[in-house]
Amino acid sequence: MANVLLGSDHAGFFLKEIIKQELVQKGYEVIDVGCFTETSCDYPVFTADLCKQIQDGKAPKGVLVCGTGIGMSMAANRAKGIRAALCANEYQARMSRAHNDSNVLCLGSRVLGQDLALSILEVWLKTEFEAGRHMRRIDIIESF
Ligand code: RB5
Repeated sequence: MANVLLGSDHAGFFLKEIIKQELVQKGYEVIDVGCFTETSCDYPVFTADLCKQIQDGKAPKGVLVCGTGIGMSMAANRAKGIRAALCANEYQARMSRAHNDSNVLCLGSRVLGQDLALSILEVWLKTEFEAGRHMRRIDIIESF
């Protein structure tokens, strides 16, 4: 199984740990960039670390968890080559892969129940990018 990067802040820590357990159980190799406790910390720090590891080719995809998912998605989308999708349902997760080739999934631990979060994650991981006309649009994004 491909490597999957994981990152969170204090608000996302607990859900990140659940996600880690789930991924390990499914046979994924997980690279956890932190945080590692529920002590208050700054979400852009962990976002930057995870994005850098994708840019460096350590793993093709990553999952970021903060309270709303918003701060981490804002921060991640500043990084070149990162297409972060904040998803609150399975449809967004599927489309963010199929049409947008998202390489980072952002989840809000204070927005989603655990079961929904894991369901979103499962759909996101299994959906392939459809390329075709969508590739042209990604190329435009990447030209910014
Ligand atoms: C932390 O309180 C919270 O601001 C953070 O987890 C996240 O929701 C930011 O977007």
